Order: sequence, then C-alpha cells, then structure tokens
Amino acid sequence: MGLFITIEGIEGSGKSTQMGLLKGYLEGKGMGVVAIREPGGTPLGERIRSMLLNAEGEGMTPLAELFLYEASRAQLISDVIAPALEAGVAVICDRYTDSTLAYQGYGRGLDKGEIELVNTAATGGLAPALTLLIDLDPELGLKRAWSRISSKTGLKEDRFEKEEVAFHRRVRQGYLEIAGKEPGRVRVVDGRGEIMSIHADICDIIDKTLG
Ligand code: ADP
Ligand code: TYD
Repeated sequence: MGLFITIEGIEGSGKSTQMGLLKGYLEGKGMGVVAIREPGGTPLGERIRSMLLNAEGEGMTPLAELFLYEASRAQLISDVIAPALEAGVAVICDRYTDSTLAYQGYGRGLDKGEIELVNTAATGGLAPALTLLIDLDPELGLKRAWSRISSKTGLKEDRFEKEEVAFHRRVRQGYLEIAGKEPGRVRVVDGRGEIMSIHADICDIIDKTLG
C-alpha cells in the first residue's frame, strides 16, 4: 500500500504551495506520487467543486453542502485514491475529512458526531497515515488567499473567503482541537515562516514518518 498523506489548514495557509514542494521531495526519494485536492479531482468532483465554491452555491444549506463534499470525496477515493494506494503510489491530498469536521462542524455548526458518521460512510474508513496541519492566523491567511484570487483572472472560487473572520477563527480552532485529539496522525506545522523553512519542517516530519 502507498503512503496516504493529507494537508489541512485555513485558506491561504500555504497548503497547495507545500503540496507541490512535498511532491518533489518524495519523488526525489524515488517514490511515485499523486497530488490531488478536494473538492474535485474527478470530472464529477470538478462539477461539484464549482457548485460549492462559485457564487451559484449561495443559499445552499449547511447539510446540502456537507453531502456535496462527501459526494466529491467518495468519487475521488474510488477513481483515484484507492487505485493509487493499491498500486503502491503515495497520495498527497490537499484537504480531506478534517476539512469537513473543521468547516461544516466547527465553522457552520453542524453536529460533529454526525459529520464523523458521514465521513466514515463516504470514505469506507480510509484514513491518512499522516496529516500535516499548517496553522496560521486567519487574518494573514485570508490576506494571502485574496491576493491569489485577484491574480487569477476569471476564477471566482471565493464563497468561503467571503465568510467573516470569526468563521475562519472557529475553523482554525477546530483544526487545533482535532490535532490535540489525534497527535499521532496530525502534525501541526507553523505556517508563518518562509515557504522554504516550512518545507524543511515538513521534510523533517516526513523523514521521521518514513523511518
Ligand atoms: P492554500 O492552498 O492553503 O490556500 P496557497 O499555497 O495557495 O495556500 O498560498 C496562498 C498564497 O500565499 C499564494 O499566493 C502563495 O504563493 C502564498 N504563500 C504560500 N506560502 C507562503 C508563505 N509561507 N509566506 C508567504 N506567502 C506564502
Ligand atoms: P479551495 O479553493 O481549494 O481553498 P484552499 O486553496 O484554501 O484549500 O477551496 C476549498 C474550500 O472548501 C475551502 O474554503 C474549504 C472548503 N471545504 C469545506 O468546507 N469542507 C470540506 O470538506 C472541504 C474538503 C473543503
């Protein structure tokens, strides 16, 4: 079985930047690597992604939102994650079940026990061996995320960035609570430093995990 790693954190914490660097690092060790993001990663998942993140998602209920994330995830596992892991390829996923607990649970206020049940139903219990939580103050993360959105012409995936800062604070707190409950799986990485120094911290964690 390949190694399954997820990267979590608030918007703008540096997940996709660090995922690209980590992919290169693992490939440098001779590993096959698939890097993907949620929601999306399959034709169905990409359609669900645009429903969730574009303006057309406005007015969606938290429960409808929850099931759309889970639907995208179920398809991604079946089409991409499970086959890659079975072939011995490492999978790095930008967001996974912890995002659902942090955003729909701590952020939106849905029942956390129920979210854990639907997470398990959608994944069949497939859990990452390691989760890198890039921790950052939402004020800083949102500033970074906005400058990225405004530099990408035509892309308007900003439904969550428009949420109030208090929402993102609850999400961050949720992530830290998840990390506190599962310290073996979830490793907290300080997201405030320079890109390459955060990458070095992540490489240290990976080396310890790979043994
Ligand atoms: P995420 O995937 O978590 O939303 P990104 O990796 O897309 O975050 O980063 C958001 C923006 O911040 C990008 O423009 C990226 O270049 C920049 N960025 C990422 N990491 C850092 C860092 N450590 N310091 C400063 N800017 C960063
Ligand atoms: P994305 O543009 O990928 O954000 P980022 O680059 O910060 O990761 O958008 C994904 C959005 O979806 C993000 O705001 C978090 C949210 N989300 C949930 O609310 N629940 C989930 O289960 C997942 C996977 C994502």
